[in-house]
Amino acid sequence: MCGIVGYLGEKEAFPIIIKGLQRLEYRGYDSSGVAILGGASGLQHHRKKGKVEALLTEVGENPPSGHLGIGHTRWATHGAPNDVNAHPHLSGDGQLALIHNGIIENYHALKETLTERGHEFYSDTDTEVLVHLIEEVLKSSEDLDLFEATRIALNEVVGAYAIAVIDIARPEELILARKSSPLVIGIGEGEYFVASDATPIVEYTKNVVYLEDEEVARVSLTSGMKIRTIRNHKVTPVITELEMALESIEKGGYEHFMLKEIHEQPRSIQDCLRGRLSLGHNTVRMAGIDDHEPMWKDAKRLIIVACGTSWHAGLIAEYMFEDFARIPVEVEYASEFRYRNPVIGEGDILIAISQSGETADTLAAIRMAKERGAHVFGICNVVGSSISRESHSGAYTHAGPEIGVASTKAFTAQLTVLTLVAMRVGELRNALDSQRRNRLMVELESIPEKIQSMLDQDQKLASIAKVYMSAPNALFLGRGFNFPVALEGALKLKEISYIHAEGYPAAEMKHGPIALIDENMPVFIVATQDAHYEKVLSNIQEVKARGGKIIAVVTKGDKEVARIADHTIEVHPSDDALVPILSTIPFQLLSYHIAVMLDRNVDQPRNLAKSVTVE
Ligand code: G6P
Repeated sequence: MCGIVGYLGEKEAFPIIIKGLQRLEYRGYDSSGVAILGGASGLQHHRKKGKVEALLTEVGENPPSGHLGIGHTRWATHGAPNDVNAHPHLSGDGQLALIHNGIIENYHALKETLTERGHEFYSDTDTEVLVHLIEEVLKSSEDLDLFEATRIALNEVVGAYAIAVIDIARPEELILARKSSPLVIGIGEGEYFVASDATPIVEYTKNVVYLEDEEVARVSLTSGMKIRTIRNHKVTPVITELEMALESIEKGGYEHFMLKEIHEQPRSIQDCLRGRLSLGHNTVRMAGIDDHEPMWKDAKRLIIVACGTSWHAGLIAEYMFEDFARIPVEVEYASEFRYRNPVIGEGDILIAISQSGETADTLAAIRMAKERGAHVFGICNVVGSSISRESHSGAYTHAGPEIGVASTKAFTAQLTVLTLVAMRVGELRNALDSQRRNRLMVELESIPEKIQSMLDQDQKLASIAKVYMSAPNALFLGRGFNFPVALEGALKLKEISYIHAEGYPAAEMKHGPIALIDENMPVFIVATQDAHYEKVLSNIQEVKARGGKIIAVVTKGDKEVARIADHTIEVHPSDDALVPILSTIPFQLLSYHIAVMLDRNVDQPRNLAKSVTVE
């Protein structure tokens, strides 16, 4: 979603801001803009619909010059994606420029009041209302500076925001604030960087301050950093060190981030397992669980909340928790859970799964669960993210930055962490016997190697992709642990190729999707040799009898499916619970190749955002 970049220092701000915006492109956006403050040139303001490239074309050969600037990539919420609605937005007198992520929920009421006071608006955005509100407060008293005016104005705002504001009259300072939308401040040598996540900052400095909710900051070249809450309490900034490496956010020779991330999975899973498997003691080490042992032993129920791909990981985890730990589990879309009146309280553990750790609905679900007395265990990829900070305990997936909008390595790392959590909880609850525990641990250790051998089948998958790239629809089927893999396979394909795809539990095919099957319908099915093998074989026969095409993921050496299917892709045998980590890989690669063949924007598919920070 929207991205924020800001710079204050001795260097030219424009190139730093443009590079930062390009680093944030992965979040998904539809327009961009900059405001640069330079001595004699004053405020130079450019906005353009489309990619950052379009903004650069608009700016032409005379880029704005100055040492203070803000830049933004906008993902439209209020008002169409066009030049006029793009940020930065200016105050009525043109003195202030502001960029904003989030949604100002009471913008309509604020706009009416400001209009009555003579303010005129040129855009449809909630953001323009906010900059007018700050202008109004600033002008209400000569004693107020921009920092104070912003702080006071934010007390009138309902909603979510991360903002950066500059003032023509104050070329030495940048004002920032956040609520429910992240903002990171990088501290360099005599310079400051600001961004909605750390990716634009990491190449300049590792020292960062994460603003907390309802905090307002001023960074100034003369007086340093000052933070207060919007209710005017003093806050001492806490500087943390970024763990991110610059290489991890670059393509490293791959054509797309998605392909790089698919290929990183043997390593990302190893990173995720590191230090957590203790084969000698036949146990799993997870501080987030070990520190709360009695709670996990006595938990009445687990509720898993997540969105998108992370929700699919949650569905697979449900099978694992039931199997390993014999504990009741519910898996919920965070957006549904938070707007019901769910029965949750003490004795319940809410597991929130989120790659970004910033998804607005998942964050809101966490807050609701905490208010009602449940313990919150967060599983996040982004270190220091809002969900990781707001959870009582948790575990990181350690997959490294995921830039491609379609989640791949974060998903398999989530499955790995969830397996470890389910195993540890199963052990604590005496539900997982030591032999199975041991087998699972040995199997987990071999997963990176097994994934590597799947990746080595890439050319075969590319040739299968070529056969089906023009299909208008696709069906994905699976059973048991592999039913959510079918959902995830369909999601991957539709996200990046725009082919309509549906995922179903194979047995449900007869209750509807079978009506769609004809010779134009490819059916991607997981048919590995597990408890459901025979039943899946029957489903395959049913598809073939109606002329459908079968692309089956099978266990290495399988002959039966190979006899009927149009194509088979082999995965190494593994414990049923671990097969999804393997069976999902061919679907990632097939979707990738189809999208490339269709000339889609693989890393930034249309309309999608990497991190959904508005509900
Ligand atoms: C967006 C992304 C998906 C992701 C979902 C949940 O829709 O495009 O890839 O699965 O958000 O995000 P989270 O960061 O909470 O896992």
